[in-house]
Amino acid sequence: MTRVLSCIQPTGAVHLGNLLGALRNWVDGQHDKDVFHGIVDLHALTVTTEPDVVGPATTELAAILFAIGLDPEVATVFVQSHVPEHSQLGWIMECTVSFGELSRMTQFKDKSARREADFVSAGLFTYPALQAADIVLYDANEVPVGDDQRQHIEITRDIAIRFNNRFGDTLVVPEAVTPKAGARVMDLQDPTSKMSKSGETDAGCVFLLDPPEVIDKKFRRAVTDSENEVRYDTVAKPGVSNLLDILSASSGTDRDTLAGQYSQYGPLKADTAAAVIELLQPVQARHQELMADPGELARLLAVGADRARSVASATLERVHRAIGLLPR
Ligand code: TYM
Repeated sequence: MTRVLSCIQPTGAVHLGNLLGALRNWVDGQHDKDVFHGIVDLHALTVTTEPDVVGPATTELAAILFAIGLDPEVATVFVQSHVPEHSQLGWIMECTVSFGELSRMTQFKDKSARREADFVSAGLFTYPALQAADIVLYDANEVPVGDDQRQHIEITRDIAIRFNNRFGDTLVVPEAVTPKAGARVMDLQDPTSKMSKSGETDAGCVFLLDPPEVIDKKFRRAVTDSENEVRYDTVAKPGVSNLLDILSASSGTDRDTLAGQYSQYGPLKADTAAAVIELLQPVQARHQELMADPGELARLLAVGADRARSVASATLERVHRAIGLLPR
């Protein structure tokens, strides 16, 4: 059976880009594939400087993952720090990737540049090695992610191939899987930048827990262009194209068909807002119920951690054996 692994960081609130680019694919795959999904709290430490922030964010994110439809009966949802094999294999992956390869990662360049005078942790630099460990620990064949993670999956493949060349065939080489629509949701105020938790303002980012009136306002104020033609063209018309992409991902109709249905921007914005509100309403209701019972969430995460550990510990042992570390 195809093994799937993907993860999300508990930093900031979950947004529409996360949902359309990745999380929806996680839910879709769960019944015919063997799926593992991690809340990667150790990755969040690359930018954490205060106590008692990551824990509550992890619980909140777990509630979101179950609210969007991940079924704890079939999907293994776990917290990265509950499975110590991630850190253990992370070090081995650091020793299998080069300084030059890590230096070429655009996310590191972007994030470190944005932090300017701020503290730039070494963890931010070696982050892709830990991400590679997350993936290969589960022998994942597929990694459903948004477009922005493609480079990190590529480097994971390079690391796995190098490890196998050095120590014999040990690690499964994974592939990235991105959705047809929504792989790169752009900021509504700056449609040339991806929608992100760390965007300039909240106005360009639709959060999963935004109330309907806020979502509606964000779409109505979305930046488009001074023309009046609805057509999919990400270079000439990034704002309109982003709306078409979001509407397509939310409604299931392809974007060129949608483009033919509109002659003005106003109705396109209103319909996109309505489709997103409809998509999010059940998620918001379910999230509220789940957050009311933190004990149950903790129980589900404990079950997930046990299942994840049984797979991860076997892989780590295989890796140690392949390298020829002295058994204790
Ligand atoms: P993170 O937490 O930033 O995002 C989680 C997922 O959401 C996708 N995504 C988007 N998709 C479309 N449009 C957007 N604007 C958008 N913004 C975010 C991301 O591509 C991602 O799939 N490094 C990863 C977390 C990670 C991971 C892993 C992922 C750690 N280990 C192992 C896969 C496998 C990250 O920071 O994602």
